[in-house]
Amino acid sequence: MTSQQRWTLRTDHSSYTVRLSPDGPWAELEAWGPHGVEEGPSALDWSHRTHFITPADAAPAEYLPHGLRPFTGADLVAARPGSERGVWWTFGGAQHESDTLRLTFTDDVFGLRTTLCYATVPGTDVLHRWTELTCTGEAELRLERLDSAAVNIPVTTGARLTYLTGQWFQEFQRTQLDLERGTFTIGSSQGVVGHAYAPWLAVQDRPAPGQGPGPTYGVALEWPGNWHITAEAEPGGALRVRAGRVPHEGAVHLAPGQTLTTPRLACAFSPDGLGGLTRVWHRYERHLSGNRLQRRRKVLYNSWEATGFDVDAANQLELAKAAADIGAELFVVDDGWFTGRADDTGGLGDWYPDPAAFPQGFDRFVDDIRSLGLDFGLWVEPEAVSPTSRLYAEHPDWVYRIDHRPARLVRNQLLLDLGRADVQDFVIATLDRLLTDHAISYLKWDMNRPPTERGRPGAGRADCLDLDAGHVAGYLRVLDHLRASHPDVTVEGCAGGGGRVDHATLARTDVVWPSDNTAPLDRLLIQFGFLHAHAPHVMSSWVTDAPGVFDPRPRSLAFRFVTALCGVLGIGADLRAWEPEQRAEAARWITRYKEVRDVIHHGEAHLLGTPEDPTCGVQYDAPDGRRTVVAAFSTGRLDGAPLVPGRAARLRLRGLDAAARYHDAASGTTYAGAHLLHYGLPFAWSAADDADLVVLTRH
Ligand code: DGJ
Repeated sequence: MTSQQRWTLRTDHSSYTVRLSPDGPWAELEAWGPHGVEEGPSALDWSHRTHFITPADAAPAEYLPHGLRPFTGADLVAARPGSERGVWWTFGGAQHESDTLRLTFTDDVFGLRTTLCYATVPGTDVLHRWTELTCTGEAELRLERLDSAAVNIPVTTGARLTYLTGQWFQEFQRTQLDLERGTFTIGSSQGVVGHAYAPWLAVQDRPAPGQGPGPTYGVALEWPGNWHITAEAEPGGALRVRAGRVPHEGAVHLAPGQTLTTPRLACAFSPDGLGGLTRVWHRYERHLSGNRLQRRRKVLYNSWEATGFDVDAANQLELAKAAADIGAELFVVDDGWFTGRADDTGGLGDWYPDPAAFPQGFDRFVDDIRSLGLDFGLWVEPEAVSPTSRLYAEHPDWVYRIDHRPARLVRNQLLLDLGRADVQDFVIATLDRLLTDHAISYLKWDMNRPPTERGRPGAGRADCLDLDAGHVAGYLRVLDHLRASHPDVTVEGCAGGGGRVDHATLARTDVVWPSDNTAPLDRLLIQFGFLHAHAPHVMSSWVTDAPGVFDPRPRSLAFRFVTALCGVLGIGADLRAWEPEQRAEAARWITRYKEVRDVIHHGEAHLLGTPEDPTCGVQYDAPDGRRTVVAAFSTGRLDGAPLVPGRAARLRLRGLDAAARYHDAASGTTYAGAHLLHYGLPFAWSAADDADLVVLTRH
């Protein structure tokens, strides 16, 4: 094989080697793993000559069209409208730089150029992959499937898949299954990422009993619209994962001369199991935040759970004073501040402060908040419109709808067609007006209803509209505008909780809201799953008064604070009802959080155990290794041992220097690194002491 037919891309600690297949005109994976893994015979080099299928069906192919790969799942399904489906390729050439690769394949019968694109992400162990599809002929093409990429992972006894699943109020539940044969698919057809699955999958060779964590691979799709990730146990012994967007209309039409670029698939590798992969994703998300990572995430107070729609200047100021007293730095008025919003039946679209709620004027109210030393923030739901609003009366054609079909209401509202340029312009003008007229430094962007009757009457052939991509483009255009024109405004992404968390959103927001469920043990489980895929500095979390929903066991105020400070701490409780001792305890927790938030947001995180264990936690190591912060929880599960005073539960720490010494100033204890790694950090739990925050300083 000549050097032109084999290309290697290197991330910080991994290499990814692709070659032209000896069996046909396609690219296939030769090796993916730690540096040097490409030196030696390929682990994917089994015989592809399996009776009854074609070599392409058994190949660890990087991307294959239906036609060339007739049976086992193609990444691209294309045809001229009315003709047979199927694409056959000729290799058109490679462009390889040290950190990028482009491989081109052409089909001259259809007139389709397919370019597989690769780019490493600096400072990470992530490789981006996407595909560019160009109609080079004279007739349009119909693309029924247009995946971003496929990745191949050799497995011996089946694959262990880890994914994040759930529903509204119960997002990001970490779930695992072993796939020996067959197909596994997750995705969304809700026009947003959805609450049911995160666009994220981790794959490991199924560990034999007694074996520790091994090489772990992950993918995440950067697409806040309809999507799928599909894992197939291949005939040859690999697990092949395909991922991409799923057009709402069932197909995308490509006009002569037009190029379609698929969303990027981020591909990650770690030799250190799921924990190592978590740290790869965290580093990647710190990279996505760019220099906004350095912006301090302020302690927020949000009044939604305290006052609901019953917002007025007096009750908000009372809450703001209490919040400022305990150390909050930012006050956000959630839903209910604008005209017509007495409840969820009205107001959306008419984004003007309600004069009845702010009798002395909205700016006076904002000034009063700011004079308490708090930044001011506001909730908006820019894609939504209430049928009773002035906006809807003026622009009934701006919502998604299908002629002669009833318009369903979800949460009493309709959805604006953000794929239309005039709707995007309206949203941009509305946000510009709010952000320039008032001293707002924080915006919470919510979205509470997916599109149902998805049509745009009068816009031509409905089957050619690609409404999903239009909405995504509009959403990203507005977010990009916010970043460019209001760079000092912090943006929180939210969709009825965690319904739109993906890398396109995370690259354009500062934090996201993982779930509306803030009950302590429920939240711990949600955050545990969330932190597998996402970094602490993007995880917004509030201390509230919410009782347990799925897990009703009561927990202490300390437990709520330690849970919420695992990410970006906020308060959502009704502080007016809190006793002075509770406020004093809250103030102490906020002070402690401020002392360590740089470690939590910029450090390396280790998930210690799981919330299924009696004791679990999260360890954060400062980038310079001088401080380690451990958030620890007694979940209340009994492990057969009674809670005897003085009998310590232990959490084994990770990644410390065994030879160094670590000092806990609060308890006056010094530990050897070896002790913390071997026996673990001790905690003396009791019914009242069910969470702790320990700060260790390395000597
Ligand atoms: C759903 C969000 O997830 C909540 O935090 C809150 O903002 C409500 N919407 C307001 O309507």
